[in-house]
Amino acid sequence: MYNSRISGLGFYVPENVVTNDDLSKVMDTNDEWIQERTGIKERRHVVKGTDTTTSMGVKAAQKAIERAGIDKDEIDFIVFATLSPDYYFPGPGVLVQRDLGLKRTIGALDVRNQCSGFVYGISVADQYIKSGMYKNVLVIGSELHSHGLDMTTRGRGVSVIFGDGAGAAVLTREEDTSKGILSTHLHSEGQHAEELSLIAPGMGKRWVNDIIADADPEDTSYYPYMNGQFVFKNAVVRFSEVIMEGLQKNNLGPQDIDMLIPHQANLRISQFIQKKFGLKDDQVFNNIMKYGNTTAASIPIALTEAWEAEKIKEGDLVVLAAFGSGFTWGSVIIRW
Ligand code: UT7
Repeated sequence: MYNSRISGLGFYVPENVVTNDDLSKVMDTNDEWIQERTGIKERRHVVKGTDTTTSMGVKAAQKAIERAGIDKDEIDFIVFATLSPDYYFPGPGVLVQRDLGLKRTIGALDVRNQCSGFVYGISVADQYIKSGMYKNVLVIGSELHSHGLDMTTRGRGVSVIFGDGAGAAVLTREEDTSKGILSTHLHSEGQHAEELSLIAPGMGKRWVNDIIADADPEDTSYYPYMNGQFVFKNAVVRFSEVIMEGLQKNNLGPQDIDMLIPHQANLRISQFIQKKFGLKDDQVFNNIMKYGNTTAASIPIALTEAWEAEKIKEGDLVVLAAFGSGFTWGSVIIRW
């Protein structure tokens, strides 16, 4: 058995900055409400016709591959996590295989686990490397939310929160099993599936034909829905549980954490976790202020920024944790 380690990280966000004041011009909201409830000051939105979920993922991946110090054709497998794919099918994994210009017809897997997508993706990649099947696996989290949000007052509870961007990591075989990814922990609770969801178009209830036939201006089934307070309450419990589960599995405790990278769902959730585990400000990384909630991209973007700012050093215990739609949640325990 081997371990896997993160050998390269990269992220990409579109240039177009959308502030809370910008949003207040198109819907009934304000900077004070958004900052107080979420911590978000601004986010990035793709200008139509420029980037896609795939193109952002490719740009993040190119950076990660370069930093891993490998040739792109040394990548053995692609894992792509998103809830906002370019197409209904095929998923963006194969588009990355094409757009990176890979010579080999390596496998590409799409992960549909929303805010936990990157954590799930890392877990999948880790298993392939641990078993010896692959040496280098590319894991991407990328989201283009802005084109699919209800940018009117009706959608304000959700639309002010989400932002666009991508992050990527290369996982590489590590012979020293005391280093790298020590363990991953995944959970789901499908009974709350609709509490944070986008129902249409789906074969289950509403397909495109139904939406067109109804032509109902009140139809919100193709916009994301979130029962915010219910999701919040579950998030703080599940974040705490899954971080503790990971620590205990490795005979560690909260005092051993050097850097916690939580999914950037809400600054208040991160602050709750920080307080609960008695962590100092420099032991939890937050960048939701700049990018909003970028779902599957939030952890790799935050991890890359923390690493670029030299907040993560060799030997550090780094914990990744996510919670979101599904509900799904998970953690990754890493000895850097
Ligand atoms: O990433 C996946 C996981 N996601 C999360 O963990 C998110 C968890 N939930 C949250 O972060 C919070 O619930 C929100 C930030 C989404 C909302 O904050 P809240 O404190 O739960 O507010 P609320 O939804 O209960 O709304 C409070 C009030 C309502 O008005 P009334 O009914 O009290 O008059 C809303 O209509 O705030 C109103 N409101 C807004 N006002 C200004 C909702 N959205 C906005 C807005 N601007 N954008």
